[in-house]
Amino acid sequence: MKKRALIYMLCLLGTLCTLSAKDKKSTPLYKDAKAPIERRIDDLLSRMTLEEKVMQLNQYTLGQNNNVNNIGEEVKNIPAEIGSLIYFDVDPELRNGMQKKAMEESRLGIPIVFGYDVIHGFRTVYPISLGQACSWNPGLVEQACAVAAQEARMSGVDWTFSPMIDVAHDPRWGRVAEGYGEDPYTNGVFAAASVHGYQGDDLSAKDRVAACLKHYVGYSASEAGRDYVYTEISQQTLWDTYLPPYEVGVKAGAATLMSSFNDISGVPGSANHYTMTEVLKNRWGHDGFVVSDWGAVKQLENQGLASTKKEAARYSFNAGLDMDMMSHAYDSHMKELVEEGKITMAQIDESVRRVLRLKFRLGLFEQPYTPVTNEKERFLRPQSMEVAVRLAEESMVLLKNENQLLPVARQKRIAVIGPMAKNGADLLGSWCGHGQDKDAETLYDGLLAEFGKKAGMRYAEGCKVEGDDRSGFAEALAAAQWSDIVVVCLGEKKEWSGENASRSTIALPQIQEELVTELKKAGKPIVLVLVSGRPLELNRLESQCDAILEIWQPGVNGARSMAGILSGRINPSGKLAITFPYSTGQIPIYYNRRKSGRRGNQGIYQDITSEPLYPFGHGLSYTEFKYGTVTPSATRVKRGEKLSVEVNVTNTGTRDGAETVHWFIADPYCSITRPMKELKYFEKQQFKAGETKTFHFDVDLERDFGFVNKNGERFLEAGEYEIIVKDQKVKIELVE
Ligand code: GLC
Repeated sequence: MKKRALIYMLCLLGTLCTLSAKDKKSTPLYKDAKAPIERRIDDLLSRMTLEEKVMQLNQYTLGQNNNVNNIGEEVKNIPAEIGSLIYFDVDPELRNGMQKKAMEESRLGIPIVFGYDVIHGFRTVYPISLGQACSWNPGLVEQACAVAAQEARMSGVDWTFSPMIDVAHDPRWGRVAEGYGEDPYTNGVFAAASVHGYQGDDLSAKDRVAACLKHYVGYSASEAGRDYVYTEISQQTLWDTYLPPYEVGVKAGAATLMSSFNDISGVPGSANHYTMTEVLKNRWGHDGFVVSDWGAVKQLENQGLASTKKEAARYSFNAGLDMDMMSHAYDSHMKELVEEGKITMAQIDESVRRVLRLKFRLGLFEQPYTPVTNEKERFLRPQSMEVAVRLAEESMVLLKNENQLLPVARQKRIAVIGPMAKNGADLLGSWCGHGQDKDAETLYDGLLAEFGKKAGMRYAEGCKVEGDDRSGFAEALAAAQWSDIVVVCLGEKKEWSGENASRSTIALPQIQEELVTELKKAGKPIVLVLVSGRPLELNRLESQCDAILEIWQPGVNGARSMAGILSGRINPSGKLAITFPYSTGQIPIYYNRRKSGRRGNQGIYQDITSEPLYPFGHGLSYTEFKYGTVTPSATRVKRGEKLSVEVNVTNTGTRDGAETVHWFIADPYCSITRPMKELKYFEKQQFKAGETKTFHFDVDLERDFGFVNKNGERFLEAGEYEIIVKDQKVKIELVE
């Protein structure tokens, strides 16, 4: 009996082994979730045809494109083998349907990766990124990006085309709204915060998305602020101004980058082997991939580099551009370019490897479909709104507060006037994803809720955002005359910034300035609340207004946050991450500019001031912060030695508040001339009234005192340096 049982068991075991071996043989390695990703890629690549590989390097849109600047034919019959799709829908069903086609109708069942522009929120819309930078709170920005990732991934988007980290010196360029201001270090800090917020530490998580650093590189240097045009960027400037945030973002683990439209001194960003291959892949070792901006490969024809789309495909692919967004250049010509030996199969395999690597890391082979959930489970969650409140409050910048006019006492009669007062839609700003106008409370409603009916409030539009209709002036003046204080809400339409939104002047339309002049006749104090996606020309308004609050395009909770600042419930802590020029004529004007060859009244404008109206780092509080003496651990250091610096700051006012300390360095004499000063660290801390806190900066001599040459080589020279905090300069001597 026993013998028979043993034989039976052995047979059973043998069958099971055969089955599992057979099963193993029938389940290809690339489908084995336990196998290492690189082995799965090898296996899958070995099975793919050239056509299947080429399709992985293309991105179309699924459904109607909702970016008016990207005029492209909708691809009707999307092939099951497509590598990526831009997903404009707000629910996952459409995506899941297309994904099913890819999983079941293609030969190998390679999932599609779906991307979308989630720039400052998916449905819970946060302040525009330029405003977020003024919060100087990267931890909070990381939280906002994590919420955006959760809403996006649960809605069918695996990959966001964000963060935009283009250092911007020209606010005529509408896309200044999308980045983190004029400073390379600041853009780097927020690049890392965004990447961490979007990606977390596991891309396959159901509430994370892949990030995409854009637009690589130098797009913001567009001549005269006009979008899509030539950018004159020396290799030195490439390295000391435009590349640094990307290096930080890559080191933070950004999954992808997007190549830029602009022509970089003769070699467009989407055909630039130096930036995309030599720097990004070879020097920085990026193991993700580069997707083009929309149609950027085809646009090489417009830019006069390629004479045909096929030639454009050859230029871009050989430069290191892995995926073609909607040029239909790679899908049309890559096969023949291989056959003609103009690109190699090895190059194709390397690019496909990079795309597949992201798909495996996102877990798309195991979980190709997005679970269907209802909007309440996904959007505007209480904890998401809490982040929106805090980020709106911390991004707003109090530019002026003459004689401490603000905060407004609650019993005051308030006249709320202007084209932005009852305008919720424009508070969401450009690139507001699936934000809905109804989600944004109007400034008037926010003030009413904050001050309540007891204070007495009157509204008058006064004028439209633009035009020459002054018929509303009389009613506005009457409201001002009735009031104790006038809150005038002015600004820009949301489409006046963002893509293809260059403006020849950063002044507000004249009708808006005339409205303020009219209101001035009432002789009441005026608070100017500004809604904008860029710095504005305020020199004529500045003298007429007693207080000025820049709220940017503050997202869904902008109104309540603005009202809270006016009432004093919130103590403003925002500081400018971008210079406010005195006038458009000063542009470009930014804090970290090189020094002039002349001093005194030479090298300056002879007709207006050469100083900005509000400098980088400017922002007022309702309390006072007194800085102690900046104290270095040494004033003489050698290479490799440690150096730290401290400063005590005291909240000498009667209110709690937050203060950001900006640590700058200057290298007055260097073998390559350097900016007047360079931000190297910042820290924000909350204070109780009367509290003193210590701010500490550990200087890394190579990183913080060193500089970079036109080949990206960092160097550190002995000599005199300065550490600058506010108006204090501490001299440090670096000896060999
Ligand atoms: C646009 C923008 C880019 C965006 C892409 C997809 O042209 O330049 O920022 O991510 O197309 O919408």
